[in-house]
Amino acid sequence: MKTKKNVIITGGAKGVGAACARLFLKESYNVVILDVDHFSGKNLESELGETCFFIACDVSEEKEVKEAFKKAIGHFGEISVLINNAGIQVYGNLLDTSEDVWDHVMNVNLKSHYLCAKESVSSMLKLGGGVIINVSSVQAFISQQNVAAYTTSKSALLGLTRSIAVDYGPNIRCVAICPGSIDTPMFRDAISKSKDPEKVFRECEQMHLMERIAKPEEVAELIGFAASDKASFITGQALRIDGGLGISIPGSKQ
Ligand SMILES: NC(=O)c1ccc[n+]([C@@H]2O[C@H](COP(=O)([O-])OP(=O)(O)OC[C@H]3O[C@@H](n4cnc5c(N)ncnc54)[C@H](O)[C@@H]3O)[C@@H](O)[C@H]2O)c1
Repeated sequence: MKTKKNVIITGGAKGVGAACARLFLKESYNVVILDVDHFSGKNLESELGETCFFIACDVSEEKEVKEAFKKAIGHFGEISVLINNAGIQVYGNLLDTSEDVWDHVMNVNLKSHYLCAKESVSSMLKLGGGVIINVSSVQAFISQQNVAAYTTSKSALLGLTRSIAVDYGPNIRCVAICPGSIDTPMFRDAISKSKDPEKVFRECEQMHLMERIAKPEEVAELIGFAASDKASFITGQALRIDGGLGISIPGSKQ
């Protein structure tokens, strides 16, 4: 088991992270999932078998991250790929975002990426190199109303991506992935808070030039590509997978 490459996926119990777990398993990786959702994480571990290892971990807590990496490396060996994917969506503008909420969003969406990247870099350098993928959002480029903390955290990830690429190239590549809307539990949960979730779903579809939202598997495909040798000349960049969201001038479609 120790000769295979190892990937750590944060927030891998559901949504995009779970799609990545399935994809990397097909690519013959050993897969480690770090997630706060024990129930979904354990279920996915039993579904995927012995090359998948679930570790309960709040990736915004340094102590938990250090312990989880120690466990993961002890189980499968050093880490070749990190998918920094865990994230939360909290709505609010500056006036209705409390300091606690702001800090929580920054801790989960930004600090966790720094903590996991830090543990991964030491491990990857022992192997001679590796790849770090930071899952950001199209909201690193365009914003809707009431997402002040979320859009700030996702924009900051582009700076972290660049810094990792600059500091650790040529051995370690780092790439940010910036999706538009994806049909995951996060998305369903967000629209369920509206009065008419079906209407909001259709509106979200129409915001994208492709007139639909993405499947988590499509985003996982891009992540798999960015982490592979096929993308060996891509580093420090933000790759958008957004169905054309936000690029058309209103009224331009007849
Ligand atoms: N769904 C979308 O429309 C969309 C769009 C753009 C970007 N994204 C980003 O893609 C990533 C994955 O999103 P998703 O839609 O699959 O979300 P999801 O909520 O469906 O899954 C996220 C997973 O992260 C886990 N998680 C949350 N906080 C954690 C923590 N502190 N420690 C460990 N695990 C934690 C959750 O338990 C969950 O399993 C996120 O970073 C999100 O911001 C999502």
